[in-house]
Amino acid sequence: MSADLFFLLYRSTARRPLDRATVTDILAASLHNNPRDGVTGFLHVDRGCFLQYLEGPRAPLLRIATRINKDRRHTDFRILAEGTIDERFFPDWDMGQIASENLPTDGLLAERSWLRSEPDIDPLPLIRAFAAHANRQDGLDIAPID
Ligand SMILES: Cc1cc2nc3c(=O)[nH]c(=O)nc-3n(C[C@H](O)[C@H](O)[C@H](O)COP(=O)(O)O)c2cc1C
Repeated sequence: MSADLFFLLYRSTARRPLDRATVTDILAASLHNNPRDGVTGFLHVDRGCFLQYLEGPRAPLLRIATRINKDRRHTDFRILAEGTIDERFFPDWDMGQIASENLPTDGLLAERSWLRSEPDIDPLPLIRAFAAHANRQDGLDIAPID
């Protein structure tokens, strides 16, 4: 177990209606920076909201989170959960995108609890559910970046 393996789950609201180019730009920066810092995770975009999960060594992860928090493309940055984990849920994803179109229509992910203004989230089951979903999709939802 690594006490230094930290995770952070937050949600935020896009300032402008999101277009594909903005999301591609965010993912490109993530794929450039996150491997350098040993940070993995996913970004989920739904109805103008971001849900992002980051995991990795604490210090670089918090540096990235501070940078993201200041990004003017979104607002209402709200940390839903943070803490330590024993192992990574997304070891192969420098930053994978999990699309909303094909989320399950039942179960934890269908509830879209993170969209509520006062989300009361039990983070680990939610993160596990995303990881299981991502695995079932066989990584197809990771946006290709040139
Ligand atoms: C919702 C959202 C998620 C982001 N996720 C990441 C991320 O995981 N890693 C990252 O380096 N930048 C991320 N960014 C972009 C940062 O805010 C910032 O623009 C970028 O890190 C700057 O990188 P650069 O100094 O290489 O240009 C995200 C931005 C937004 C709006």
